[in-house]
Amino acid sequence: MEFREILAKRRMHRSFETDPLPQEQIERIVGVIRRAPSGGFSQGGSIVVVTDDAKRNEIAAAFGDDHYSSGGRNYIADAPVHLVLSANESLYHARYTEADKLASTGGIEVTWPVPYWFVDAGALMMLVLAAAIDEGLASAFIGHPDQKRIFDELLGLPPDVIPIGLALIGRPAPDPNAATGTSRRKDRQRPLDDLVHWQRWG
Ligand SMILES: Cc1cc2nc3c(=O)[nH]c(=O)nc-3n(C[C@H](O)[C@H](O)[C@H](O)COP(=O)(O)O)c2cc1C
Repeated sequence: MEFREILAKRRMHRSFETDPLPQEQIERIVGVIRRAPSGGFSQGGSIVVVTDDAKRNEIAAAFGDDHYSSGGRNYIADAPVHLVLSANESLYHARYTEADKLASTGGIEVTWPVPYWFVDAGALMMLVLAAAIDEGLASAFIGHPDQKRIFDELLGLPPDVIPIGLALIGRPAPDPNAATGTSRRKDRQRPLDDLVHWQRWG
């Protein structure tokens, strides 16, 4: 699929067919982690793939029904593939205190302009969502304020693995938001000039 076509289809889809996806297809999607950028090549991003019915139901229950159910269906539980995407800060500190990095920063760890571990996990999220679209599938990304505890309990994450959220992947079912086509509502869209600045801010 052409990049433009992927972009045109890029949206959070909120309704999935429950039928499982072929293992090779899931592997192709999560395999994009090898193409993900990371500061210093720290490779702090990670994915936990969950396809087990009972576990997906537990995740859906932990996230709560309020935003995710309509007509007796819960689209978190329905999505046949859950990908828990995480960042790992400690790998960045380890990488940026290696000799080659310290040599370029005068022997002290770099001052982090922003938390690169979350920047990189976000980039990984976007690659995964796009890869799913490239496979002709639908995808979405959701978060929960208590997701660290939820995924620690349900999936046994180590302490320094911090989930940034949950990607849902599956075949698209008719979306309750089909009338608007997206949650990217036109009436809430900020003017392009507020988002893109040319040469300088103002
Ligand atoms: C970091 C992040 C967290 C999000 N969390 C949720 C969420 O918890 N629940 C939800 O329904 N959508 C969530 N979304 C989806 C956004 O609502 C959606 O991206 C936005 O409305 C724009 O719509 P579009 O992605 O369909 O273009 C999240 C998106 C991002 C990037």
